[in-house]
Amino acid sequence: MIRVNENYLKIQASYLFTEIAHRVKAHQDAHPDAKIIRLGIGDVTEPLAPAVVAAMHKAVDDEAARETFHGYGPEQGYAFLRDAIAENDFQKREIDVASDEIFVSDGAKCDCGNIQELFGQDVKIAVPDPVYPVYVDTNVMAGRTGVNTDGRYSGLIYLDGNAANGFVPAPGNLEADVVYLCFPNNPTGATATKAQLQAWVDWARANKALILFDAAYEAFIRTPGIPHSIYECAGARECAIEFRSFSKTAGFTGVRCGYTVVPKGLVAWKADGSSAELRPFWTRRQTTKFNGCSYITQRGAEAVYSPEGAAQTKATIDFYLGNAKIVKDALLALGYDVTGGMDSPYLWVNVKGDSWEFFDRLLKEANVVTTPGAGFGRAGEGYIRISAFNSRENVEEAVGRIAKVLGG
Ligand code: MLT
Repeated sequence: MIRVNENYLKIQASYLFTEIAHRVKAHQDAHPDAKIIRLGIGDVTEPLAPAVVAAMHKAVDDEAARETFHGYGPEQGYAFLRDAIAENDFQKREIDVASDEIFVSDGAKCDCGNIQELFGQDVKIAVPDPVYPVYVDTNVMAGRTGVNTDGRYSGLIYLDGNAANGFVPAPGNLEADVVYLCFPNNPTGATATKAQLQAWVDWARANKALILFDAAYEAFIRTPGIPHSIYECAGARECAIEFRSFSKTAGFTGVRCGYTVVPKGLVAWKADGSSAELRPFWTRRQTTKFNGCSYITQRGAEAVYSPEGAAQTKATIDFYLGNAKIVKDALLALGYDVTGGMDSPYLWVNVKGDSWEFFDRLLKEANVVTTPGAGFGRAGEGYIRISAFNSRENVEEAVGRIAKVLGG
């Protein structure tokens, strides 16, 4: 008799953004003429940079000729892309990461979800709350938690992010083996200072723990001094894995490309107390379960680092940051407390009430889609997240409609 993985019975039936999509569809079906503006899921709207498009066209031509055709590529990514990443994202910032520590993939979400396969079943996991749901749900699916009561799984440690700590929880005397951190943060848009990240690195080293650092929104950092990588902190190579994505950096949400850094010498411990390097484990996992990101995609990603590609992608991010400022200024003018929206495409708005109710109100009365904070965890209740990914015209229109509904 085929049995189910009963861990799946513990998780909510649908993923947060799937639930939102259902509600939006129901509203659209009931009001076919409503012009709905989506500031919910963090999906980019602006087209790929011309340099990326040209590189992908050329790569298609490569695939069209026997002499330049590429079949299976290296599972860890082509050297041309790994070298470009190591040089531009790390070495130019004087961060010690080599190209053979970079594993190219089809996106940070998959890597953040898959990485937990490397760890023992009984490791103690800590997550921030509010949290990107993937960190939690993948550990629930893997059987590392008990049931969910009042929005929290037994067996998981939750680190509250709130206005008092600026949505940057500190390690304190946390007893955990693995902690997920994400900065600039999804969903709150908060950034961590170097001192705050260094405190986490020091804690991890002192406790033989591991930091899983999600830096998918790194390209939005404009404030000098905010770390772009966990490896800017002393000792981080000994205790951290970092995830990056081309999705928000270069508009690849549909194209799909990201990468994970697993430094040489980074270890976890065996039952007998000896250590094992994690990089060979991740290599083994990826070579077994993943056949690499497409050649065409990787050529497109490589072009993000060309002088034209870098300038074009930066201009697009500046554009989204301009959207974020428009939304932030409008909400501040309406009297709301807002976190994020600088160094981040997300704004985290204190709505002083039920977040799903507020979401429904903006959907029904303003035809604007946001994301209810409660969907990111218990500590997200009372907030909504607004994404800056949309056209300028739609953002201005959405802000006007929101002001009309909320302004009385
Ligand atoms: C979000 O809206 O939180 C993100 O788009 C989700 C993701 O990147 O997977």
